[in-house]
Amino acid sequence: MADGIPHAAAAAFDAIGDDYERAFAGSAAHGASLTRLLERLAPGSRILDVGSGTGRPTAQTLAAAGHEVLGVDVSPVMVELASRRVPGASFRHADIREVPLEEGFDAVCVYFSLLQMPREDQRRLVHRLAGALRPGGHLVLATVPLDVEDVGAVFMGQEVRVTSFGREAFRELAAGAGLGILDEDATVFTPAHPGAVPEPHLFLHCRREPVPPGP
Ligand SMILES: C[S@@+](CC[C@H](N)C(=O)[O-])C[C@H]1O[C@@H](n2cnc3c(N)ncnc32)[C@H](O)[C@@H]1O
Repeated sequence: MADGIPHAAAAAFDAIGDDYERAFAGSAAHGASLTRLLERLAPGSRILDVGSGTGRPTAQTLAAAGHEVLGVDVSPVMVELASRRVPGASFRHADIREVPLEEGFDAVCVYFSLLQMPREDQRRLVHRLAGALRPGGHLVLATVPLDVEDVGAVFMGQEVRVTSFGREAFRELAAGAGLGILDEDATVFTPAHPGAVPEPHLFLHCRREPVPPGP
């Protein structure tokens, strides 16, 4: 992270902390997405959780199933909470855009952690995450599928800038990264937080195409 320049997402999520988990704990679609991912994983899979938040439910669910989970989050408060909540996983404080990634993960999870990045950064990151998967590995992409670019919003009491893609453009982004879409779930969820409004949620379950058999 650039020295001395406050990271906008880090500042917002440092302030939100535990409230995020309370507000989103009721998302049945998030739980169902984790169940679908677990059904596709071999025992002892290596998983990267991008924007791991408090570690719950994602890292906790995957680690409890016996997988090796590394969470990365730009918010030091979130990393501290997750490290305490989910001792069975590892967490690292970093901006995922600056983390060198090598091929070898069996799965990568991205639950709602792209929304504070410019579109070009989201595209580049999904490309890099697809490249960090072993062939045949799984990438779960969850987002708020709205066609918005750098709009101001108040999220759980914090002023944030939000950038995203509409549903079709987000599917194209995944396909452009060499990912096949196995299934998708589009729902509407209202966070349990004063003043929250219903928000659309999209869960794309993708797979890096396996290497075709040799001649
Ligand atoms: C909306 S929360 C979602 C948390 C968790 N994935 C979940 O669904 O419960 C987004 C998380 O992504 C993190 N985040 C945002 N931008 C990031 C970046 N560039 N690098 C790493 N983490 C980031 C935030 O700090 C926050 O903890």
